[in-house]
Amino acid sequence: MSSNSTFRSLQAKIEDDSAIVGVIGLGYVGLPLAHALHRGGMSAIGFDVDERKIEAIAAKQNYLRHLGDEMIEDLSDSDRFTATTRFDRLGECDVIIIAVPTPLGRHQEPDLSYITDTAERIGRTLRPGQLVILESTTYPRTTRDEMLPVMLEHAPDSARDLVVGEDLFVAFSPEREDPGRKDHSTSTIPKLVGGLEERSTSLAADVYRKGIAEVVEVASAEIAESAKLLENIFRAVNIALVNEMKTVLTEMDIDIWEVVRAASTKPFGFMPFFPGPGLGGHCIPIDPFYLTWKAKEVGCSTRFIELAGQVNTAMPEYVIDRVAGALNEHAKPIKGSKILVMGLAYKPDVDDTRESPSFELIKILEERGAEVDYSDPHIAETSRVRRHDLRMTSVELTPERIASFDCILISTNHAAFDYPMVAEHARLVVDTRDAMRDHHDALGDRLVLA
Ligand SMILES: NC(=O)c1ccc[n+]([C@@H]2O[C@H](COP(=O)([O-])OP(=O)(O)OC[C@H]3O[C@@H](n4cnc5c(N)ncnc54)[C@H](O)[C@@H]3O)[C@@H](O)[C@H]2O)c1
Repeated sequence: MSSNSTFRSLQAKIEDDSAIVGVIGLGYVGLPLAHALHRGGMSAIGFDVDERKIEAIAAKQNYLRHLGDEMIEDLSDSDRFTATTRFDRLGECDVIIIAVPTPLGRHQEPDLSYITDTAERIGRTLRPGQLVILESTTYPRTTRDEMLPVMLEHAPDSARDLVVGEDLFVAFSPEREDPGRKDHSTSTIPKLVGGLEERSTSLAADVYRKGIAEVVEVASAEIAESAKLLENIFRAVNIALVNEMKTVLTEMDIDIWEVVRAASTKPFGFMPFFPGPGLGGHCIPIDPFYLTWKAKEVGCSTRFIELAGQVNTAMPEYVIDRVAGALNEHAKPIKGSKILVMGLAYKPDVDDTRESPSFELIKILEERGAEVDYSDPHIAETSRVRRHDLRMTSVELTPERIASFDCILISTNHAAFDYPMVAEHARLVVDTRDAMRDHHDALGDRLVLA
């Protein structure tokens, strides 16, 4: 088949929904994406190394609660979707989308092993006419310099010399998922798409248009990779700025949240970011280090990004200093005090604990001799996370229990918490999230902002 006809044939298959799309990694990103493309008419195969997810889908058990039960039901009821751990089925797919983790290693270095493992598996059944799209967040040039060579190296002899743009197509398209957000979903968030060359861009854009309202084609995979990092670094830097401002204004008895809200009335040139107890989630605390690491390789430094990282990672210590100061006002040391951390998730109304600063807060408090409990309506017990294994269970909030703590530290402002009850019964509240805004008068000097 000539290169033009390979391209046209895949284009036609995508157009008439006869193309099969494989989504590798059925987590926060991959599952809703598979669902959006399936709903757009495509046949999909979901791949994961985690047997439990495959079994859960078959049994219609929702393992990502924030997505709602309907998504899993739709997929498991459909004859256009299957989920499997059998990666030899990748050869059946015309389009393969990769949404595997991209964490940091022990020394804060990018860990691309999930991408390279996946590239190896794709390579083993690679054939002409496939389109491979990477979605995992990573540093610029990963798609071209790291993923593609591994795929080709592991390809059967018949596919080892495939040429991108002629008989193989490769693109990067960053995910902009924000779990728990109610005003946007996978299908309404505009999707950037950049291929290793034009035909790859165009085919990848055709795929996403099946399930996503707005697709934006950019000039290269590198533009798309870098745009994703810019988006997340922008957040990390602005959160650091507002956290730094918080430390200054708090010393001056000025309420940072009111200041941010006041500044937000400017209709241009300002975007509100709110302070907090530290960065959390799978993206913002991690992704900036991908660029920092790559920058060193090309002889550059990223002072701005690293400074933001330092300010943000110092936040849990700052919060604990505020707790210590607040307890001191009540003639109590941290050592021996009973402290309740409200909220374990890294943000409101989700059960996601990845990189959550609450773990750091609990660890520091325990190191300083406090007796710590946590309460989180979304997380009944802690599970092991990257740097912590707390082995704790959530306590239920009752008036008596609230009154039994020397200090309540609000780390996550879940809507499900009963804040009026906290305001009425707490001896002391340290609020890192502006959760007690409506109860300032009731709490009086029992409230400390941090
Ligand atoms: N969660 C978010 O909000 C978000 C937002 C934007 C971008 N991202 C990026 O998307 C990527 C995926 O993140 P996520 O949040 O979906 O992670 P996740 O941990 O929720 O899901 C990843 C899935 O991949 C599976 N997996 C791991 N290794 C695998 C392998 N070798 N082959 C197949 N499956 C494998 C895991 O079992 C898991 O189900 C990351 O690069 C992340 O930075 C995430």
